[in-house]
Formats: sequence, structure tokens, C-alpha cells
Amino acid sequence: MATRKKAAKAKTKTAAKKSARKVVKLKAVKKPAAKAAGGSLPRPSSKPWGQSGRALDGVRILDFTHVQSGPTCTQLLAYMGADVIKVERPGVGDITRGQLRDVIGADSLYFTMLNGSKRSITIDSKHPKGKEILDRLVKTCDVLVENFAPGALDRMGLTFEHIHKLNPRMIVASVKGFGPGPYEDCKVYENVAQCAGGSASTTGFRDGPPLVTGAQLGDSGTGLHLALGIVSALFQRIRTGRGQKVLCAMQDGVLNLARVKLRDQQRLKAGPLTEYSQYGEGIPFGKATPRAGNDSGGGQPGWILKCKGWEDDPDAYVYFITQAPVWGAICDLIGKPEWKTDPDYATPPARLPRLRHIFDTIEQWTMTKTKFDVMEICNKLDIPVGPILSMKEIAEEPSLRATGTVVEVDHPTRGAYLTVGNPIKLSDSPADVRRSPLLGEHTDEILSDVLGYSAKEIAEIKTSGAITAPEKSAKAAAA
Ligand code: COA
Repeated sequence: MATRKKAAKAKTKTAAKKSARKVVKLKAVKKPAAKAAGGSLPRPSSKPWGQSGRALDGVRILDFTHVQSGPTCTQLLAYMGADVIKVERPGVGDITRGQLRDVIGADSLYFTMLNGSKRSITIDSKHPKGKEILDRLVKTCDVLVENFAPGALDRMGLTFEHIHKLNPRMIVASVKGFGPGPYEDCKVYENVAQCAGGSASTTGFRDGPPLVTGAQLGDSGTGLHLALGIVSALFQRIRTGRGQKVLCAMQDGVLNLARVKLRDQQRLKAGPLTEYSQYGEGIPFGKATPRAGNDSGGGQPGWILKCKGWEDDPDAYVYFITQAPVWGAICDLIGKPEWKTDPDYATPPARLPRLRHIFDTIEQWTMTKTKFDVMEICNKLDIPVGPILSMKEIAEEPSLRATGTVVEVDHPTRGAYLTVGNPIKLSDSPADVRRSPLLGEHTDEILSDVLGYSAKEIAEIKTSGAITAPEKSAKAAAA
């Protein structure tokens, strides 16, 4: 943290220092690509692992994101060490601050779990002075990230052309619901993306309606895609010296995650999808990839099976995979050693039409064990299984706390809360997981330290209305 602050200060103390840094970077871009990728690297650090800063130290992000998709992306970049400056509307902030509130008057978990490790500044982007401050931020940041409705950024005057004129090195990264095409102007939320990206039509049971999943494929999934786009653009900028636009459409992101279902769509031309249990049940396939219930979706058949206690515990289940190499061990375990040599069961193709019966038989065994017993017994035999963990179990799981995947952070108005830390572990860049900022908590420090405004100028900005909410809306937001 101290290293990040130091780096941030050094980077922005004066405009002269800033441009000097840019010149150094631009010199490096003249080298051919092959050299930039290896030849121009500094000598390997001799510092102990984890003590040479963070992966994205020195990268500053102008974070114009809200709700979930964009904030997921910028939170991840902040965990990696980027200085993420979240710009919020005075008095109101990101709408999620007040959504699904569990503690009256405090920022919601919806907000706090998506905006950790960031700084918050309030700026009215439509106020003339606010625009001036934003322009200054554009000049000093490396990346602008936004997920407004289509056209909103342009309506603020922050067109790509304007941004690029101020800062040709700026990467402008956007999440939109759809890419260019008939729906490009539509506003989109999570479940719309799951439906439009092919996930919903392929999720659920064959005889039921399409289903959306609990995992936020459209929002968090697209945020992850955007983070990769940004880091790639930063890498390319080392060679080209210029920024670029990065666009992730939520429909595209969901489709990317559902690509195996597009694979199956094409396989349908060659005949029934034999690994789907509907094949074994003799139910004909239609024209499109069907919903596959809990079928594994890969080459190794699997299903969710009841475990001991399932009558009272909705999560007393295990996912059981009948992986071919361990078929013999499975047969012995469930008391069916004869299946190892029976031609109806001995080979994977012979088993495909009988999967329902096979899983029913395995379930007779799993129902005599808890899901954790099944896990322990099967793992010793190399049989891939997984307990269905409830969110309660995950929240309390010590190993997830130990790895920093689940982190408890303190918060001045709501007290301690759990958040998901960085799921991507870098051996030389420890995750920087801190609480989310209060609305406008860092306005003064950003105006002075990052943008170089004097105390007098800051006082003037405060009375201009560019960073403070009119009394009425501030009161409404606090309610
Ligand atoms: N100061 C002044 N105005 C601000 C502001 C600030 N700091 N920050 C935002 N605003 C304004 C915007 O300029 C916009 O005004 P305009 O419509 O007059 O141009 C307005 O706030 C609302 O922005 P918008 O993005 O349209 O919010 P919304 O609540 O109407 O729609 C979404 C929300 C999520 C549907 C929409 O933003 C969207 O489709 N985003 C892209 C897809 C996406 O990310 N969806 C996932 C959400 S998890």
C-alpha cells in the first residue's frame, strides 16, 4: 500500500515529471516487438518473492463504472495494484450503494463487494467545472473504464476523439450489452445477457423453462473479459505508444463462456449428442442444443447425486463424474464389480445409453454417505467428485480464508464484511484487498495529489457545485 502511494505521488507531483516519464516509456516503444517482449526487460529482481511491488503498480484508472460488470473489472485491476479512481455523481454515487441494503445508512454489500481497493471522487460530469476536472483526470490516467448505457459517455462530452486529443495514450474500455448490430443501443442487465448469450436456453432441465444461473456470467464474466482486454492494450501500448478502444459486449462474453453449447449445436448435424442423458432415455433431439440438466457437458459423464441428509438439507448433494480411467474403482466402490467386465458397462460407449441407471445405482451408495465422506473416499481413489457447497459453507471454509479468496475487511460505517479477494494468484504480486471507499472519500486528496489543485482552487471547486450535491439529493441519498 505504501509502495503504491509512493509510486502514485512520484508519478503525479508535477506535470513536468509526468511528461518525462512518458518520454522514457515512448523511447522504449521503438524497439521491435521481439525485443520488447524479452530483450528490453530489466534484470530479474533479486528481491524476495512478493516484495517487488504489484503487477499493475503505476497504472492509474479513471473508473466511471457502476452496478456490477464494470466494477468487477476495475476491482480486479485494483487488486493487482492499479490506482483506481472511481468517479461518482455527487450526493448519489454508484446506484448500488443504496441497493439491497442490509445496514441502514451504510453502503450495501452489493457495492462494497465490488468496489474494494478503489478511491472515490465525486464529480458532476455535466457541470462545466466538473468537465474541466475530468479532462485533467483524463490527462493523468492510463485507462478509462465505463459501462454506461450506449451514448452516455459521448453525451458527457467524453468522446474517444476528445479523450485521445487530451491523452493519446489513454485506453478507453467499455462494457455494453450488445456489440454493433440491431441491439447496440439497448440497455442490458445480467439476466438479459445470459439469455442473449446462449446460456439460458441451454441451462435447466429439458422439460422445464430456460434458466438463468446464480453465477453472474453476464456482469462479472464480462468484467473479467474487459480486464484481460485492458491489460492486453496496456501491453500493446508499450510498443505503439498509443491507447485504443476496448469493447466487451455482455452477449459476447456470455457466449464465450457458453462456447461448448455452440460446439454441441454444430455436432447435432452429425447425429444425437450421445453424452446427453436424453440420448440414453430415447428422447429425440430437436434443432437446437437442448437443456442438459446436470449432464457434465464434457466427455466424462457426470450428474448430481443425493447424499446422506438430503431430505432436510437442500445442499446435501455431490457431483459425481464417472471418469473412464477410474471406472473399475467406481464399480468396486458401489458394489458392482461385475460391471467392470459386463459388455453393457465395461466401455464408455456402452455406458452412454445406460447413464440414468448407472447414476441411480451410484446414488444408492452416495445416499449412505455425507457429501464430505464421498469427497474423502473418492478422492483417495482418484474419482473426481465435488460436494455441492452452500454459500454458508463457503463463507466459513478455512482454506478459502487462508488463500485470500474469501477476505474479511473492516468498514467504518457497516463494520466487518466478507468479500471475494483476488481469484487470480500471482506469485510476485500479492493481492491488495481493502475495503470500498465511502462516497467521495478521496475527493480532496485526488484533487490535490493527483491533479495538483491548490487549496484555494479546491475551495473554489467546492463552492462551484461541481463536486458537491445539492442539499436535497444528498439528503435523499443518505435516507
Ligand atoms: N455526473 C453526472 N451525470 C452522471 C454521472 C456523474 N458523475 N455519472 C453518470 N451520470 C449520468 C449519465 O451521464 C447518464 O445520463 P444521460 O442518460 O443523461 O446521458 C445517466 O447518469 C445514467 O447512466 P446510464 O448508464 O444510462 O444508467 P441507467 O441506470 O439508466 O442504466 C444500465 C443502467 C446498467 C442498464 C446501463 O448503464 C447499461 O446498459 N450499461 C451497459 C451494460 C452494462 O454494463 N450492464 C450491466 C450492469 S451490471
